[in-house]
Amino acid sequence: MTSIDSLGFVCGTKGDSVSFLVNKDVALSFGQIVRIDSGERRFYARVVNSESSSTLETIEQLREAEGKEAFGPYSAFRKVDAMLFLEKRGERVRSPTFNPNYRDKVYAASEEDCAILKLSGELEVGRLRSEDQLLGSVGINVEAVPRMMGMFGMTGSGKTNTELILNAQIIDHSPKTVALIYDFAGQLLDGKEIKPQKGLRDHPLFHSRVQYYSARDGKMAVGLRTLTPAKLDTLFPDIQPPQKRLAWALYRHFGADWIEKVRETYHNEGNVGIKAQNKSVIEALMQKLSSLPYDLFPASSYTFIESALQNICRGVTCLVDISGLRSEDQNRIVCLSAMAIAEHYKRLWEEQYEEWQKLPTLLITLEEAHEFLDPNKSKTIFSDIALTYRKYRVGLNAVTPRPSRINFDVFAELWTKVIMKTELKKDRIYLTENTPYMEYSETEIKMLDVGEALLISEPKIKFAVPVKVAHYPEYLEKLGKRDYGLPDSPKLSEMDERLKRLNEQADVSL
Ligand SMILES: Nc1ncnc2c1ncn2[C@@H]1O[C@H](COP(=O)(O)OP(=O)(O)OP(=O)(O)O)[C@@H](O)[C@H]1O
Ligand SMILES: [Mg+2]
Repeated sequence: MTSIDSLGFVCGTKGDSVSFLVNKDVALSFGQIVRIDSGERRFYARVVNSESSSTLETIEQLREAEGKEAFGPYSAFRKVDAMLFLEKRGERVRSPTFNPNYRDKVYAASEEDCAILKLSGELEVGRLRSEDQLLGSVGINVEAVPRMMGMFGMTGSGKTNTELILNAQIIDHSPKTVALIYDFAGQLLDGKEIKPQKGLRDHPLFHSRVQYYSARDGKMAVGLRTLTPAKLDTLFPDIQPPQKRLAWALYRHFGADWIEKVRETYHNEGNVGIKAQNKSVIEALMQKLSSLPYDLFPASSYTFIESALQNICRGVTCLVDISGLRSEDQNRIVCLSAMAIAEHYKRLWEEQYEEWQKLPTLLITLEEAHEFLDPNKSKTIFSDIALTYRKYRVGLNAVTPRPSRINFDVFAELWTKVIMKTELKKDRIYLTENTPYMEYSETEIKMLDVGEALLISEPKIKFAVPVKVAHYPEYLEKLGKRDYGLPDSPKLSEMDERLKRLNEQADVSL
């Protein structure tokens, strides 16, 4: 069958719903986009349901099943329901103003339709899926970044791959765009679990356009002297006002190195060096201050956040690997750094608008987003970012396998959604009930394969587009052919080899 053959014909319409009978031997799938030619109008619709049945009486069906009688080609049929989402009349493309006629012909979407649907964008996510074919490119625009995003899908559905694809293109578009990526599993640098294994380190611009921070090489420290009492809410979400008042009093008394001094005084003298304080308040605060681990929070005035901020402003993507840390420390590092960077954007917008205009559009990728946006947990900077940072060009990409644990107000603000296979009913219902144009896709979400997704990116893409996300290793292969005009740099493996040799020489000479 060629794409010009029709799939079937319309047998009924009601409102924005169309039913059609399918010709014999036609392959269709849930979510597929079809075109219906109706006089001077063209309608586009998504397949949402299908049923096959018989025109025979039960007794005739039984006789046919036994092979005793044959009733010919019209004894069985397949009916498909589709929801209209777009109409083209002349050159004008808009939401449907009417519906097709009985007997109008239905076709599978073609490359030409793909162009009409205007699905491509600067940041390419993948290609349009139409049954077993992949059609034109589907992507989002840079303007969609500050309109907030979400990526949802169960384990193994392809979230990490999609993060890599999107962030790789943010790097490609630097310094117009920049990324701040929090990697909880320590996967993205090397692309662990991506097969074949490829990570951001393999991106041709990694050495010039990406900075990697990890606690393992000691690059990720937040000096105690950079922590003013104003940051205590972020460090300890359960802190009470009396403890904060005490912290401010201590800060005024001791100055920038207040945490070290207080800890020392408390240890040596059993008090905090200032008078008339409630003992339980002192104990509660001291317990918090002494829970900050020395390796991550050393007694210094260096903080990696300052370096990350400078890099972000220059369009250098920051990959913050927080794997291996205790979960409280992960939350502290993530919230402290995101707050400092987002607030910098906000401050420049308010005070130095021209400087702000030079800043790259920022996308913050947050895995385990449900831990930070759960309505039953204390509020974090990320709900503020999702709700109010749009105009400062700070975007959040909330990645999680558990969308139903994301606070409703935040979820409603995520204008771009990449929805991958999700089996849990609670999550599927949450996704479909709270995302425009998704109300009929609950079954479809369960049936998606690895790397398959539904993409919505308002206001540009106003319906759930079935996409096959590009596979990151293949994307890199294509990139490899592009000339970045970079000087040849020694490969990491070669450098490791050279270092090893130097070490061996040093050992010999000792
Ligand atoms: N678009 C794709 N095309 C081909 N293979 C893919 C695609 N997306 C993911 N894969 C493969 O599927 C596997 C799982 O993908 P990935 O690690 O991205 O899933 P995940 O949703 O992040 O899983 P987890 O929740 O466990 O972190 C990987 O081996 C990856 O290479
Ligand atoms: Mg993953």
